[in-house]
Amino acid sequence: MPLHIIIGAQWGDEGKGRITDLLAEGAAAAARYSGGDNAGHTVTVGGEIFKLHLLPSGLIQPGVVGVLGNGMVINPQRLLEEMDKLAAKGVDVSPGRVKISYAAHLISPTHIALDKANEARLGTGKIGTTGRGIGPAYTDKTARRGLRAEILRDPATAAEAARAHIAQANATLAQVYGEPPLDAEAIAAGYAGYAKRLAPYITDTALYLHLLLKAGKTVLAEGAQGSLLDIDHGTYPYVTSSSPTTGGAFTGLGVAPQFTGRVVGVTKAFQTRVGEGPFPTEAFGAEAERLRGTGANPWDEFGTTTGRPRRCGWIDLVLLRYSARINGLTELAITKLDVLSGLERVRLCMAYRKGGQTFEELPLGPAHLEGFEAVYEDMPGWPDDVRAARRPAHLPEAARHYLRRIEALTVLPISMASVGPERGQMVRF
Ligand code: GDP
Ligand code: IMO
Ligand code: MG
Repeated sequence: MPLHIIIGAQWGDEGKGRITDLLAEGAAAAARYSGGDNAGHTVTVGGEIFKLHLLPSGLIQPGVVGVLGNGMVINPQRLLEEMDKLAAKGVDVSPGRVKISYAAHLISPTHIALDKANEARLGTGKIGTTGRGIGPAYTDKTARRGLRAEILRDPATAAEAARAHIAQANATLAQVYGEPPLDAEAIAAGYAGYAKRLAPYITDTALYLHLLLKAGKTVLAEGAQGSLLDIDHGTYPYVTSSSPTTGGAFTGLGVAPQFTGRVVGVTKAFQTRVGEGPFPTEAFGAEAERLRGTGANPWDEFGTTTGRPRRCGWIDLVLLRYSARINGLTELAITKLDVLSGLERVRLCMAYRKGGQTFEELPLGPAHLEGFEAVYEDMPGWPDDVRAARRPAHLPEAARHYLRRIEALTVLPISMASVGPERGQMVRF
């Protein structure tokens, strides 16, 4: 015991990376259980900014082993690039410090080509994916024709598996999308090269994590994406292709639920989303621009992975309560409280209205959000700069009141609220 699970409670980019980094102090391992390099997690320590896409954010804390679980889809080329970047910053990414599940799936160039071709075909009905090949890789996984990381234990096996995979994927590219084929031989040679470097990392991570937990060590399960992007529980079809919710941690790591300790729901003090799909509390015009920032600050709301401006709006308590319920959250970690400083009023969405009726729960879940109008409670903002706050007493009364309101309406304790991107910029409750 215990496995602490860190969950994005909204549509992603809540600040999971920085919360994982904080909780990783003293942990034995931090493990990613879902998604791929569609994720972009940021950790800031002493002004240095680390951006993680495939490697767990816990790696920035010395002594923590990073695990890439079986629930992930991994682009080996991007993984090697990320490892090289982190190594150049002095982070140990040697085998032993980083472990990859033999059962994780691999993303190939054809997955990326298919992702892009599919989005182009959907036109205005597109999902707004990150174009990283995530959907097609999970499609191959569930169709039982995917490439698993275990092929990387041997260069010849990797090349042969890649060759067969590309032949089949090229047929789909040509027949369904009228796209030109990719060079199977070049890709196969690439896979042989990845195998040479990655073979020592491939292992039975489920067994490794089980033994740590049995020995009483702390393990973190680092969520990627957010609960509302969950393939089952999100705003389908405007979702990702994996299970970022709590259940995904067990299947995506192969560890058992009885080890679970805390389930930390990470949520911004407001709300954002990238890509298409419903967003009932979305703000527009000057209000949205104020929440987004201009891009001058590293934390302004532009995608970590794609650089796209994020859609911005107000915290939605109907959706947060839903997230709390489906994930079994034990607490909330609120991020970016500092961004609200200086606003005259802050808004909380308490319920929805449709056809003259008020709803505090969604009748058919978030996939059917269309037509629901947010009902707000407005609260006075606070002019104070809160970035130096470390204890609740350091926060202005209006900010404390705002947080207490979130606690009351979600029936969850807030265990921490961050007031800046730096590791230490945290108010603990
Ligand atoms: P993740 O995907 O959930 O890990 O979140 P991202 O890293 O994509 O986006 C969160 C952004 O907000 C990053 O730029 C973080 O450095 C930044 N951030 C996190 N917490 C805070 C905070 O309390 N205040 C400010 N200003 N920025 C924060
Ligand atoms: P982190 O882990 C925000 C969104 C995309 C798109 C949808 C599907 O940093 O929170 P995909 O490429 O997964 O098929 O795209 O999901 N999306 C994210 N949005 N943060 C993320 O990751 C995301 N990963 C995917 O924008 O709407
Ligand atoms: Mg992100």
